[in-house]
Amino acid sequence: MIVITLTYITKNIAKMKFFLDTANIEEIAEFANTGLLDGVTTNPSIIASYGKPFEEVIAAICKLVDGPVSAEVTATDHETMLKQGRHLAQIANNVVIKVPLTSDGLKACYALRQEEIDVNVTLCFSTGQALLAAKAGATFISPFIGRIDDIGYQGMNLIQEIAQIYSNYPDFNTQILAASIRSPLHVTEAAQMGADVATMPTKVLKQLFKHPLTDLGLEAFLKDWKNTDQKISA
Ligand code: E4P
Repeated sequence: MIVITLTYITKNIAKMKFFLDTANIEEIAEFANTGLLDGVTTNPSIIASYGKPFEEVIAAICKLVDGPVSAEVTATDHETMLKQGRHLAQIANNVVIKVPLTSDGLKACYALRQEEIDVNVTLCFSTGQALLAAKAGATFISPFIGRIDDIGYQGMNLIQEIAQIYSNYPDFNTQILAASIRSPLHVTEAAQMGADVATMPTKVLKQLFKHPLTDLGLEAFLKDWKNTDQKISA
């Protein structure tokens, strides 16, 4: 008998995943069960601005969303990161532990991955850092596009370069999670570069629906339909 063990998240799922970068339960609930939402990311700043108890918020999000939900450690030494990571991982089986891209963070990442706990390595700003995260077995690497743009460089280049490097080494199973997304263009460009995931504020997900020609076209269709005096039974 062949037994295949799968960790919660496997690489090479052939679709781009969308995560919401928020702790707002109402916003997450709006997109749960729509086929559009594959996971959620949070960070300490997002949790602070939402103003509710961290672990309760993570538990509530995990009930709403089947996919990965990132919860970030706040310690900076690897032993405490490990303890926090193990503790947070017990909240639900879809919790992903977020650790910063530091030497201690990657040490904690490697140890957590040995325990089959999924890890999102955050605050990535260079290809060298992304290479280290993949070697440490990260489930996700989070390059922060918007924050690189903010200082006058092309954040999207980093996604492209990481995608190229990872594709050279099929044994790297780390998924590229485009983070710090500020606009719909960031999402579509990340898709062009082959990012596995884009995590975005709810505002950006809503902006993706929008096109003025869709609004104008629908308005014209409805006006013309009204003139027919017909009805569709419902
Ligand atoms: C990702 O996981 C981070 O929470 C996030 O994308 C940071 O985005 P910001 O640069 O807009 O704060």
